[in-house]
Amino acid sequence: MVGRDEELSLLRAQFGFLPTGNRRVVFISGEAGIGKTALMDAFCREVKQSSASVAHGQCLQCVSGKEEYYPLMESLSQLCASADGELACRILARMAPAWLTKGRAPESSTAAHAEPQVRLLGELCAALEELAAAKPLVLVFEDLHWADDSTLDFISVMARRRAPTRVMVLASCRRRKGATGHPLEVVKQDLLVHRLAVEIALAPLAKAAVCQLVIKELQQESLPPGLTGFVYQRSEGNPLFVIAVLEHLIAERFLVRKGTDDTVGWEQNAPLPEMESGVPGELTRMIELEIERLTPEEQRILEAGSLMSVAFPAWAVAAALELDAADAEEACDELARRLYFVERAGQDELPDGTRSAFYVFAHGLYREVLYQRQPATRRAKRQIRIAERLGTLFAGREACVAREMAMHYEAAGDWQRASSALRVAARDAQQRRAYADAMELLEQSLTIAQNLSARESETVKREIQLELMETRRETAMKPRLWMNVSE
Ligand SMILES: Nc1ncnc2c1ncn2[C@@H]1O[C@H](COP(=O)(O)OP(=O)(O)OP(=O)(O)O)[C@@H](O)[C@H]1O
Ligand SMILES: [Mg+2]
Repeated sequence: MVGRDEELSLLRAQFGFLPTGNRRVVFISGEAGIGKTALMDAFCREVKQSSASVAHGQCLQCVSGKEEYYPLMESLSQLCASADGELACRILARMAPAWLTKGRAPESSTAAHAEPQVRLLGELCAALEELAAAKPLVLVFEDLHWADDSTLDFISVMARRRAPTRVMVLASCRRRKGATGHPLEVVKQDLLVHRLAVEIALAPLAKAAVCQLVIKELQQESLPPGLTGFVYQRSEGNPLFVIAVLEHLIAERFLVRKGTDDTVGWEQNAPLPEMESGVPGELTRMIELEIERLTPEEQRILEAGSLMSVAFPAWAVAAALELDAADAEEACDELARRLYFVERAGQDELPDGTRSAFYVFAHGLYREVLYQRQPATRRAKRQIRIAERLGTLFAGREACVAREMAMHYEAAGDWQRASSALRVAARDAQQRRAYADAMELLEQSLTIAQNLSARESETVKREIQLELMETRRETAMKPRLWMNVSE
């Protein structure tokens, strides 16, 4: 970490409130690549050493509906699987048993059942507070700008409770211009105004910090003259862009390694290039250049990976490109070994018992560039193949992956299958008595069905309307908790 001493001190000071039972909610905000995750990771490493428990929940960017409480459920599973997992499970089983249901959130709220959702959230908060009595607990939520409203409800409820506890909620979010009505902004502003949360807004790195970052990345103390100024100007102090500018200079041989043994180091090989201003465009071009240096087959593999929302499994790459699964995994492994922007992140067991490794891009911008560079028709074919493979893999329990299938079908413009996958998910939600969730899914399904031809859409829309009426009969939608609270 370079140049974030002040922000780390602020975080330490917030953490310092926990021993006296003062719960904390901290938002880390800033533009893409500014270093929110890097800062939170550095802080979490530190507090883990001081024996706090840390659990992470990642909010996902989804084309289709967002799964209620997804990041919260992820962090609960982490707590249960951690070294103190036994204690966490015991407390949850005793105080908030509804949250222990195989990675699935308890039924969502409705007007008729408003009490249960408030109660469920209250029970969960109480259980986490109890867990924090043994060790301070830091709940990290990444990319809160993609969070579902229920997760925001949780943060709001947790922030407002009064009992002394050693819980800290730490959440990263991108700052959005003019997004004042966005649910995250509403919740955040409300908590900030009531002094129930603090915000650490990350500014670009100062020139001296950019210099340190260049030294760290190139692993050499003395830099070619003018290099820091050039990188600072091009990156505007955004650390992700600093790294990308350096990669670009190396790849284009403006910087080359010269010397032998002890004297080996990076030297400037040619006058630094003229670049247009407008960093994001420039960054996109640099990422594109990196991709173009790969073989066509490697490019196709990464493009296929970009079709998944965050982590991409080898089986999905194989499905998208009609490859053998083992060959696809081997190719992904090779890329993860070679490229700094792809990492192997783990291995999953599939429902058919086979195992498949999964990978992540170092930054969402790589995924976006890889996604956008595919011609629409080719991308659509690939997404349909992934959705179909999901259907085959999860045959008999399609509801588990219906949203994901819908996302791929929707992106591919297969409105018929997108809308019916969402209806499968809605039926599943209804069976779980998660009526608000079911309504949302049906409404999305209805919106998607508008794209069908007039003849097709008429029947489908009528069916969905009936399903909506039936769900409505069961219950009416309840306004979000944070709306009640801020009134
Ligand atoms: N202060 C820093 N010192 C060194 N490296 C940093 C620093 N901040 C960020 N980086 C590096 O810059 C890259 C982008 O940072 P990071 O992923 O933390 O950004 P982010 O704000 O979380 O972006 P996003 O909004 O897309 O999630 C990463 O490779 C990270 O390691
Ligand atoms: Mg991040």
